[in-house]
Amino acid sequence: MSVRWKRTHTCGELREDQLAQTVTLNGWVHRRRDHGGVVFIDLRDRYGITQVVIDPQASADVQATVAQIRNEFVLSCTGEVQARPDGTRNPNLPTGDIEVHATTVQILSATQTPPFDLNNPALEVDESIRLRYRYLDLRREDMQRKMELRHRLIKAIRDFMDAEGFWEIETPILLKSTPEGARDYLVPSRVHPGQFYALPQSPQQLKQLLMVSGMDRYFQIARCFRDEDPRADRQPEFTQLDIEMAFVERDDVMGVIERLYLELADTLSGKSVQARPIPRIPFAEAMAKYGTDCPDLRFGLELVDVSHIAQHSDFRVFKDVLANGGIVKGVRAPGCGSYSRKQVDEFTTLARSLGGKGLVSIAVEDGGLRSPVLQHLGEDVTQRIAAALSAEPGDLVLVAADQPDVTNTVLSRIRLEIGDRLGLRDQNSLAFCWVVDFPLFEWDDEEERWSFVHNPFCGPFPEDEALVATDPGNARSLQYDLVCNGWEVGGGSVRAHKRELLEQIWQTMGYSSEQIHEQVGHMLEAFTYGVPPHGGIAMGLDRTIAIFADEENIREAIAFPKNQQAIDLMMRAPSPVADEQLSEVNLALCPSQKQ
Ligand code: AMO
Ligand code: AMP
Repeated sequence: MSVRWKRTHTCGELREDQLAQTVTLNGWVHRRRDHGGVVFIDLRDRYGITQVVIDPQASADVQATVAQIRNEFVLSCTGEVQARPDGTRNPNLPTGDIEVHATTVQILSATQTPPFDLNNPALEVDESIRLRYRYLDLRREDMQRKMELRHRLIKAIRDFMDAEGFWEIETPILLKSTPEGARDYLVPSRVHPGQFYALPQSPQQLKQLLMVSGMDRYFQIARCFRDEDPRADRQPEFTQLDIEMAFVERDDVMGVIERLYLELADTLSGKSVQARPIPRIPFAEAMAKYGTDCPDLRFGLELVDVSHIAQHSDFRVFKDVLANGGIVKGVRAPGCGSYSRKQVDEFTTLARSLGGKGLVSIAVEDGGLRSPVLQHLGEDVTQRIAAALSAEPGDLVLVAADQPDVTNTVLSRIRLEIGDRLGLRDQNSLAFCWVVDFPLFEWDDEEERWSFVHNPFCGPFPEDEALVATDPGNARSLQYDLVCNGWEVGGGSVRAHKRELLEQIWQTMGYSSEQIHEQVGHMLEAFTYGVPPHGGIAMGLDRTIAIFADEENIREAIAFPKNQQAIDLMMRAPSPVADEQLSEVNLALCPSQKQ
C-alpha cells in the first residue's frame, strides 16, 4: 500500500475550527528550529505558513526523517491540529493560533542549498542570480503577491470588457512586419525559402481589420514583440490590453479606459487616485510645464520659460543659446537654497549626463540672491528669474539653457530628482493624466523626411486633414496617451479610416505608391469595402502592474522576463542552433558569427 501524502488542507487554511482534526499538509520548509528536543517547522505553500511541531515523543522513524530536513525541502506532514499554548500564539500569522503535531513526516523532495536565502525578504540578491533561478525567486512571498496581482488585474479586465460588450479575439503571432517604430523579430519560413514572418509589435492592423469585419468592440490580452534595447519600462516581449471600437470618437475610447483604470486602481492598487475625472493636458502644455509628454503630476514644481528675461542679460551662455534658437528654462527646488556646492554639483552632473552643458543655480536667501554667475547675469535679471519661478527665501532655482529638446530633457529629469529628494513622489498616490493634441508628424533630421509621432494609422483632427498634404508639421493628431506617475501606461487614437487619407499620410512620410502597397496594401484594400470610423488604444499591462506594486522595473511584474541584454538567463536564450536547423530554414551564418 502506498503511503498517504496528499494534503487535506493548505498551509494557509487551518484555524481553531479544525482543532483535534488529523490533517495532512504539503509544502516547503520555510524555517526549521530545534528547541531542545522539540523541532518546529514552518511549512509554507502559496496560501501561507503553518507551524508543524515534532515532539520528542514522536516515533524514531519521524525523528530520523526530521534530522535530515533542511530549509526548502518539500514535505508531507500528518498530525493533529492543536491550539498553541498561551503566550506562543502568533497574531501576525493567520494560522498563528494553531499548530500541527506531526505523527508522520515524509520527505517528498530534498534540495541542495539554494543559491540565495529565500526566507529573508530584506536580503539584497543580485538580480542576475534571481533571474537565473527565477523558479526559486518566484517562491518568495513578494513575487507570489505580484503574480497574484497580475492574475487579478487580467481577470478584472476580462470581466470589465465582457460587461461592456467587447469580444476577446486572438490574432496571429506569425505575422508580417507591423510598423510601430521599433525593429521586428523575424522568423524564417522553412516552406518558403528566403521569406520571413515578423512577430507583431502590436495587433494594430488586425484589430482595425476586425472593425472592417463588423466585430464592433474587440479586445485582447496581447503579447507584443519589439526588438529594442530593454529599459526599466521596456521588455522585448510585453503584454498589452489591446482595444478597438467601431463608430466612436476620441471620448468614447478614453471613456472606456478611464472607467476601467479607475476601477482597477480602486480595487487592486491599494493607492488613492489623485484626481477624477482624469485631467487632460495638451501635449504642448505638458512639454512647456514638465518638459515631457509623460509628466509625473504627483507634485507641482512646473518648469518656467525665462527666455524673455534671460535675453536682457549679457551672460554669454544664455546669449549664445538664445541667438541659436534655444530656450532658457528654470525649475524651483523648495527649501534647497542652503544646498552645499557639492549638492548643487550633483544636479549639474545629472544635467550633463543627459546632454546638457550645465546648470545655473540661484539660491534665494533672506538677504538677497546667491549664484556663481550673479555678476554675469546681473542682479536685476537674476531677481526677475527667481520671481518668475515664484522662488521664496530658502529656495533654490536651477536654470538650463539649450535647444528646446535638450533643455526639456534635462529639466524634466531634474524636476523628478527634486521630487525624489523632497519626498514628493508619493508611493500611495496615483496621478493619472491624459495627454492629447499631439502633432501627427515630426521631422526626422537623419532621414530628412516626415515621420509619424505615434503610429502610421493615427488620424488627424478633421479640420486638419488638408494639412497632411500641405503643412504636415501643423497637423494635430487624434492620439491620446494615458500617463500615470510619470509612466506612459497606454496610448491609442481615432484612426485615419478613409482610404485616401491613409494613403496621403504615407505619401507625406515619403513612401512611394509601390512601398505603400507593399506595406499596407491590405489595409487600403480593406478600406474600399466599407469601413466604419473606428479608434482604439493599447495599455501596457506590465507597466500598470509595476506601478500598482511599487516597482520601478517591469521585470518585477513578469514571471520570466529577459534581462537588460534581452537574455533569458534561466533558459539561456537566445542560443546558437545546429547548422542542420539553420539549413532547414534556408539560412547560413556569416563566418564571423559562427561560435
Ligand atoms: P504603443 O506603442 O504606444 O501603442 O504601445 C502601447 C503601450 O504598450 C506599452 N509598451 C511597452 N511595455 C513594455 N515594454 C515595451 N517594449 C513596450 N512598448 C510599449 C506602453 C505603451 O503605452 N498599436 C498601438 C496602440 C493603438 O494605437 O491602439 C501601440 O502599440 O505602456
Ligand atoms: P562656463 O562658462 O561653461 O564655465 O559656465 C558657467 C556657468 O554656467 C556654470 O555654472 C555652468 O554650469 C553654467 N552653464 C554652462 N552652460 C550652461 C547651459 N547651457 N545652461 C545652463 N547653465 C550653463
